[in-house]
Amino acid sequence: MLAEKRILLIIGGGIAAYKSLELIRRLQDRGARVTPVLTRAGAQFVTPLSVSALAGHKVYTDLFDLTDEAEMGHINLSRSADLIVVAPATADLMAKMAAGLAEDLASTLLLATDTPVMVAPAMNVRMWEHPATQRNRAQLEQDGIGFIGPNEGGMACGEFGPGRMAEPAEIVAAVEAKLSGGPLAGKRILVTSGPTHEPIDPVRYIANRSSGAQGTAIARALAGLGAQVVFVTGPADVPPPPGVEVVAVETAQQMLEAVEGALPVDAGVFAAAVADWRVASASDRKLKKSRDGMPSLAFAENPDILKTVSRMPEGRPRLVVGFAAETDDVIDNATAKRARKGCDWIVANDVSPATGIMGGAENAVVLISDEGHEEWPRMGKAEVADRLARRIAAALDG
Ligand code: CTP
Repeated sequence: MLAEKRILLIIGGGIAAYKSLELIRRLQDRGARVTPVLTRAGAQFVTPLSVSALAGHKVYTDLFDLTDEAEMGHINLSRSADLIVVAPATADLMAKMAAGLAEDLASTLLLATDTPVMVAPAMNVRMWEHPATQRNRAQLEQDGIGFIGPNEGGMACGEFGPGRMAEPAEIVAAVEAKLSGGPLAGKRILVTSGPTHEPIDPVRYIANRSSGAQGTAIARALAGLGAQVVFVTGPADVPPPPGVEVVAVETAQQMLEAVEGALPVDAGVFAAAVADWRVASASDRKLKKSRDGMPSLAFAENPDILKTVSRMPEGRPRLVVGFAAETDDVIDNATAKRARKGCDWIVANDVSPATGIMGGAENAVVLISDEGHEEWPRMGKAEVADRLARRIAAALDG
């Protein structure tokens, strides 16, 4: 139920705006209080009168409505809500949001708010698939905006594909999941991510090619399901997701300390590409070509963070998930790795250069547990993360 939840519904301009009328009804049936905002383009598809009659509330349409500016102001309007829903979210509105434009009431509200925002995109399939829209989608996801749909299907313009707005019932379900805190509400989950840097001297280090993309996507997905996420990250290429507690580290030893400091947790996901070795005695002065000749580096073994946590006699998380980056015999090697490390699940992937997975946008993984192995089709890293987060929620629920 959504009893007494305050939802600010921004209705953008698109044929799907007619579904927003049903959305208002359904949200109200669940007990929500809906304040509608209609963009100028939205008013081409549904009338302010029908929206306000259904919502039982004045519809806000213009930024420069002086009475309301004096009474409430656009900032209050956005902040007094529990959730902002944009449905339909047009390509134009998404672009404005991604760019941080504030040129009408809807975009100003969206820029001025600190309230969570969910968008239900609706547009022609070509517009959805256009690189500009996909760039904006990625940016908005990174900014913590939740997406509902779009769905695939026939569209008003006669084309077929992704771009149809999610059905009102689906939007209501997503809103309820968001406002009820999600299936991981109250759970604390640790995620390690990114590479580690092991210093040789103050200016040089040994690193690996991990971008941190998969670990970041997992932290974002877990937070999206309501978990309190502690995100321990090495120096990654991608920024950490919003809404998580970030502990930035550089070396494997620092990562272990940060992980131990984050315990206890309900689950730990160890997606970091931790260096197995460090330079035994890193120099605290820059190694000089002339003075020192060719340096010879002696290595020492780094602590195995996943193994340390998996084998903790006390305070072990209920669920420990490791990763296995393999180039050969993925399933056999990863199954052996799971036993060796003592974790519950291993998410294995083939990182041979030909797969383009390391540093790429997609992943093809095999989930290994005591029930055997399960191959997932190749999909985007965000989708892998969503699926894994839901599996973790189900496992912690039992
Ligand atoms: N891992 C870790 N600490 C380390 C090394 C690895 O926590 N010092 C974790 C990684 O985060 C990952 C898993 O262990 O979840 C597997 O890492 P991987 O490098 O594939 O395994 P290794 O134990 O290093 O085995 P190998 O290099 O022989 O494949």
